[in-house]
Amino acid sequence: MAAVTERFQQLFVVWIVLSITSSVAVDRNNFKTCSQSSFCKRQRNVKPGSSPYRALLNSLELTEKNIKVQLINEVNKVPLLLEIYGLEGNMTRIKITELNPLKPRYEVPDVLIQDPPTLPLAVTGRDDNSIELALSQTDHRLIITSKPFRLDIMAGNELVLSVNSRGLLVFEHLRQRKDTFSDKISSTVGSMWDRIKSLFSSESKQENSESEAEKPEDGNSEQLDAAEKVDEAEPEKNEKDEDTENGMWEETFKTHRDSKPNGPTSISLDFSLPGFENVYGIPEHADNLKLKTTDNGDPYRLYNLDVFQYELYNPMSLYGAVPLMLAHNAQRTLGIFWLNSAETWVDISSNTAGKTVFGKMLDYVQGSKEAPQTDVRWISESGIIDVFILLGPKSTNVFHQYASLTGTQALPPLFTIGYHQCRWNYNDQEDVRNVDAGLDDHDIPCDVIWLDIEHTDGKRYFTWDPNKFPKPQDMLQELEAKKRKMVTIVDPHIKVDSGYKIYNEIRSHDLYTKSKDGNDYEGWCWPGNAGYPDFTNPEMRSLWAKMFAYDQYEGSRENLYTWNDMNEPSVFNGPEVTMHKDVVHNGGWENRDVHNLYGYYVQMATAEGQVLRSGGKERPFVLTRAFFAGSQRYGAVWTGDNAAEWDHLKISIPMCLSLGLAGISFCGADVGGFFKTPSTELLVRWYQMGAYHPFFRAHAHLDTPRREPWLFGEENTKLIRSVVRERYALLPFWYTLFYNAYRTGVPVMRPLWVEFPADVTTFAIDNEFMLGNALLVHPVAEEGSRGVTAYLPGTGEVWYDVRSFQKYIAPQQLYIPVTMSSVPVFQRGGTIIPRKNRVRRSSSCMINDPYTLYVALSSQNTADGELYEDDGHSFNFQTKKEYIHRKFTFINNILTSSNADNSSHFTTKAWLEKVVVMGAQKPSKVHIQMKDGSTSEVEYEFDAATSILTLRKPAVNIASDWTILLR
Ligand code: GLC
Repeated sequence: MAAVTERFQQLFVVWIVLSITSSVAVDRNNFKTCSQSSFCKRQRNVKPGSSPYRALLNSLELTEKNIKVQLINEVNKVPLLLEIYGLEGNMTRIKITELNPLKPRYEVPDVLIQDPPTLPLAVTGRDDNSIELALSQTDHRLIITSKPFRLDIMAGNELVLSVNSRGLLVFEHLRQRKDTFSDKISSTVGSMWDRIKSLFSSESKQENSESEAEKPEDGNSEQLDAAEKVDEAEPEKNEKDEDTENGMWEETFKTHRDSKPNGPTSISLDFSLPGFENVYGIPEHADNLKLKTTDNGDPYRLYNLDVFQYELYNPMSLYGAVPLMLAHNAQRTLGIFWLNSAETWVDISSNTAGKTVFGKMLDYVQGSKEAPQTDVRWISESGIIDVFILLGPKSTNVFHQYASLTGTQALPPLFTIGYHQCRWNYNDQEDVRNVDAGLDDHDIPCDVIWLDIEHTDGKRYFTWDPNKFPKPQDMLQELEAKKRKMVTIVDPHIKVDSGYKIYNEIRSHDLYTKSKDGNDYEGWCWPGNAGYPDFTNPEMRSLWAKMFAYDQYEGSRENLYTWNDMNEPSVFNGPEVTMHKDVVHNGGWENRDVHNLYGYYVQMATAEGQVLRSGGKERPFVLTRAFFAGSQRYGAVWTGDNAAEWDHLKISIPMCLSLGLAGISFCGADVGGFFKTPSTELLVRWYQMGAYHPFFRAHAHLDTPRREPWLFGEENTKLIRSVVRERYALLPFWYTLFYNAYRTGVPVMRPLWVEFPADVTTFAIDNEFMLGNALLVHPVAEEGSRGVTAYLPGTGEVWYDVRSFQKYIAPQQLYIPVTMSSVPVFQRGGTIIPRKNRVRRSSSCMINDPYTLYVALSSQNTADGELYEDDGHSFNFQTKKEYIHRKFTFINNILTSSNADNSSHFTTKAWLEKVVVMGAQKPSKVHIQMKDGSTSEVEYEFDAATSILTLRKPAVNIASDWTILLR
C-alpha cells in the first residue's frame, strides 16, 4: 500500500513538472484575486468616507518612549490603542491595535535589528479637536485630529503625509464566534438607539462633544462591518451562513477549506501623499519600477507564492514580500514600511493617473492644475498595524532610515559577485568536471558551479545521489584546486521517510509545523510527501544550522555553499501552491500570521549554519527565492522561474531595482531564462544584462537543451566571454558598491532618479539603471535591435562611453547604433572607478592583481571615487577592521589617494598599474609623490582625438597614500 502511495506521489510530482513545462502562462485560477480573498474583498468594499473612529484626546498619555491615545469606533464601540513614536533619524512609528484583545495579536518578531531608539515627543499645541506634537529635532510636527480621527505629518507648513484622511482605518477585532449574533444585535440596537438619540438631542450636541462622538457618523456607512448590517439583512438568513459567505469564519478556495479559528482579524489603513505622483518598491512583482494605480484592477499583493510561469506587468504576488513603499518627487523622498507578515494587499490611486502629458499641460495653461496626490491603502489579513514613516527627505536618508530598522545588505564573500554556472541539473561528477573544464577551455571566468535537486539521494537534502555523486569531497577538492566553489540546493520540505536522518531528527524534536488537527503538517513537493519544519521556532533554526556542520552534512567542505528554494513555502497540493493558512507554528500562531516570514527564517537558519560550521569566521553565502524585509542580512535573492523571452529579459531591471530600493541589493534573474529555450541572440543579450546585475547566474530548466556559453559557435562564445570578463574586470567596483550598501543601506543597482532626484524625466525610467553613482547601463533588450536610445540625465553633467571614451553632454536622449557586441555603458563625469584588467579564471585568482583607475572628469575637471578591499571571505573586516578603504580625488590637476578610514588596516600586494583620465588635457609632465615626500616621474600617453590621458605604471601599492601631479 505504502509503495502504491509513493508511486502515486511520484507520478503527481512528474505531472507537476510536466504541467509546469508545458503550460505557456500562469494558471490564474490557482491564485486568488482580491475578491476571492475574503478579507481583501470585505476591506475593499469599505469605500473612502468619513472615519467612524474618534481619538479620545482625554486618554492621551505621554510616556518616555511614546504617546498613547485611545481610539473608539463609534459604530461597534471597540476601542483601539494608538501609539506614536518619534524615532531617531527622522522616522515616526505608528502602532494601532486593540486595547483589550480577546487574545494577543501577532507582532512581527526578529525583523527589526533593534528596538528602534526613540526621541521624546512633546505636545506643542492643543484645541478641542486636535493635538499637535513636535516629532524630533527637525521641524516635523504631527497633528492628531480627534473626530474624524486622522494624523497629519507636517514639515514646516508643508503637509507631508496624512493617515486615515480617507477614513479607511478598519480593524476587525477578535471576537467569539458564538457571540457574533449577540454582538450584532447589541451593536445594531446600540446604533439604532444612537440614531434615535441623535434625533432628539441637537442641543446636547454642542454641550458635550465627547459623548456626541459616541454616535455613528453618516459619512462612512460602508465602514459598518457585517454586524452593523444586520438590520438590513434578511432576518431569516442563518447567521452562520452569512459569516461563511463573508469568509469571516471559514473560507474555501478551490478544494481547500480555511478553518479560520480566530474569525475575521484583518486590518487596513490609508495614507495620503500630497505632491507625490510616483511610488515604488513593495517587491516582489513582475511589474514596472514605477507602481501603477490599482483602481481598475487588483491591488498589489504581498503573499509569498510559488507562481509557475508568472505573468508580467501585473500586481500578482510572487515569491517574496517586502512591505516597503517609497514615494518620490523632485523635492523629497519618503518611505512607508508596513511591518506585517500576513497576506497583504496594497491599493494605489492618484489624482493625476491617466492624465496625459498634454492633459497636464492643458491644466497648467488653464491654471486649473490640481496638486498631484497619491493615496495608498494597506490591507493585511491579521496582526496589528505597525507602520514606520521614513521621512527622508532625500532618498539616501530613506535608505539609511530603513537600514537602521531592518539592517543592511550583508557584505557578500567576493566570489559570490563573480559569475555562477547553474542548471537543473549537472548530472554527475563527470558532468561537473566537464563544465568546469569547458569554462577554462573557453577562457570564461567563473567562480561557482551549482547543483540542483537531482544531485540528492531521492530529493533528501543534505545527501548525495550515490551513483551520480559518489565522491562529493573529491569533486569539491577538484574545484578548490581551480579556486572555484560549489553551491548545492537545500530546500525546506523534508521527505517523510523513517529511513532519512534529517526527517527523523526534526521529528524527534517535534519541530514540524502542525496541521489544525495537531499532527505534523505534510504536503507534496519534489520528494513526494514532505514535512515542513517550523523555521519560526528558534529551536528549529538552531537544529537546522547544526546540520551544516562538516561532520553532519556528509561530503561537504569549506567551498560548498547553499541555495534555499521553494521556501514560500511551496506545497504542490496546498491552497495557491502553499501552506494552509490554519497550519500552526511555534507559539500557536497560524501560518496566516507568519506566512511571509517563512522563507526569511529558512535563509536565516541556513546562513547561521554556514557561519557556525566555520567557527564564526567565514561569511556565508545563501541564495533564497522567498524573502521578507530584512532578508538582505542573509544573502542573495533571485527572481525565480522566469522564461526565455525578451519581456522577461526587460523586466529583470525593474524587478531588481525594486528589490534594491527595498534594501535587498543582491539580486539577479536567471540568465538565459529558466523556462523555454532562448534564441542565441536572446542568450547573448541576457549575458550582457546579467553581467551588470548584482547577482550573475545562468540557470535553466531540466527539460531545456544544454546552454553552457560555448555551445553556440565561436562568435557567440566570444560575445559572452567578453561580457563575463568585463564583469570580472569591474569586480573591485562591484565589491566597493557592496561595501557601501553594507555600510549605509544605499542600493548597489539604482534607479536613475536616486542619483538625479530633481530630473523628472528619470522618474519612470526602467530600461536603464545606475550602478552606484558612476555607471549608467542601458542593456539591449529588444530582439533584432539596431540601436537604442539611452537617456543621459543631469543638467551640466558629462558622460563617457566606457568603450570609445566618447564624451556626451547631458541631459540628452542619445541614439546609439548597436551590434551584437554592444552593451551601452557610460561613466559619469566626476567619478573614479577601480578595475582589474587582468582577468583570470575566478575572482580568487585575481586577489593580488594590479588595479587601473578610470578617472572621468566632470565639466569642472574634478572627479572622486573609492576602493574597498579585504580578504574577500572572513569576518575580519568587522571584527578586526582588516580592510582597505581608499578615497581618490582629482582636483586642480592633482589625483590623490588617501585613506577613507583611518581605523582600518590591511595589507595587500595589489598595486596601481595604470590611470586613465577621460576628458583630460595634455600635461607637460607627470609626477607621483609619496607620503615621505619622494617623487618620481610617471610615463604617460595622450590621445588628442579622444582626450584620453594614460599614466603608465605609477607602480605604487594600492593601499598607500600618494599624489599624482599633472603639470
Ligand atoms: C524551482 C526553482 C528553480 C529550480 C527548480 C528545481 O522551480 O525556482 O530554480 O531549478 O525548482 O529545483
